[in-house]
Amino acid sequence: MSKSFKIAINMGGGDAPGLNAVLEAVVRSASNRNWEVYGIKNSYEGLLDTNEIIRMTPEKVWHISSLGGTILGTTNKGNPFKMPIANAAGEIELRDVSDRVVDNFRRLRLDCLIAVGGDGSLKIAYDLFKKGIPVIGVPKTIDNDLAATIITFGFDTAVTIATEAIDRLHSTAKSHDRVMVVEVMGRNAGWIALNSGISGSADVILIPEIPFDIDKVCDHIMEGELHGQRYAIVVVAEGAAPAGGKALNKGKGEAGRQDVLLGGVGEYVARQIAKKTAKDTRFLVLGHLQRGGSPTTFDRLLSLRFGAAALRLVEEKKFGTMVALDPPDIKAIPLEEVIGSIKRVSLEGDTIRTAREIGICFGD
Ligand code: F6P
Repeated sequence: MSKSFKIAINMGGGDAPGLNAVLEAVVRSASNRNWEVYGIKNSYEGLLDTNEIIRMTPEKVWHISSLGGTILGTTNKGNPFKMPIANAAGEIELRDVSDRVVDNFRRLRLDCLIAVGGDGSLKIAYDLFKKGIPVIGVPKTIDNDLAATIITFGFDTAVTIATEAIDRLHSTAKSHDRVMVVEVMGRNAGWIALNSGISGSADVILIPEIPFDIDKVCDHIMEGELHGQRYAIVVVAEGAAPAGGKALNKGKGEAGRQDVLLGGVGEYVARQIAKKTAKDTRFLVLGHLQRGGSPTTFDRLLSLRFGAAALRLVEEKKFGTMVALDPPDIKAIPLEEVIGSIKRVSLEGDTIRTAREIGICFGD
């Protein structure tokens, strides 16, 4: 490998605590090999506008592992294969500008791209790999829904924040004999709701993997009343839906996004509970609080390990792969096997069994 090996790194999709730690590990490991690292701003947009590429040095990333967000910026709209561009009539069209990304990558004499992202961003990375760009993927998402890795960074922080919020809701719910419904993120997987709900002693947890019956939820709450439990905490994943129904959403969001914005089920569940039980009921949506702030120690360490492992894969020229946690090791998984397969909560898994055995209701 040449001494002047030049690595580009970008972050795509929603931010997740730990992104800066990946960057720190990549830059510091590269510097120790006398390689250069260039940070691409705002996902792939920086490769469409070459002013948006920053030479990263160890001084620039020292201890950024403790910072939330990403100093490189990220976007959910930056898919170079479907870039929103205004046509002559001022209408937004989705155009394939990926050739420009490839041209700029080559013109800048970059040798490899480390793409940090979730399912959508890793698919873009794989498509660029097929166009000839040497790519290494690093999995990121607070939703923990990537199949190829045991866990993604950002998830532990999101669960920790959600658990703390649920802990706090107990005292106010108890003081008012209320039902508190809290909606958490996770898209079409219930990991955040499940793990925070159990840890925060929720009475009911509703997840996308288990369609719920609102009457069963209400029966569980009223059964608690009979035994002197006059308040209840209900944790609802944003992707949860009643049996026979669909997850609620707020539409497509901004132009260029491929996904819909989920949300609204917390309010729906709260209204139904209030109507059917006549109990005082309130709801809250935790939203982006779950992605904000400093990563937990677990997420920092995992991110640093992923970043350093990505550099090892560059060294071994294992392009077209993604780092994945397979305890105690970090392995390389072909990107082809990673994309498009979502990891959802296993209904036979020990965590669900534990929840059921300690009396948590899933509304089924
Ligand atoms: O994928 C991460 C995530 O936070 C999801 O849990 C959530 O549905 C979505 O992103 C929110 O997207 P945005 O940040 O664009 O509102």
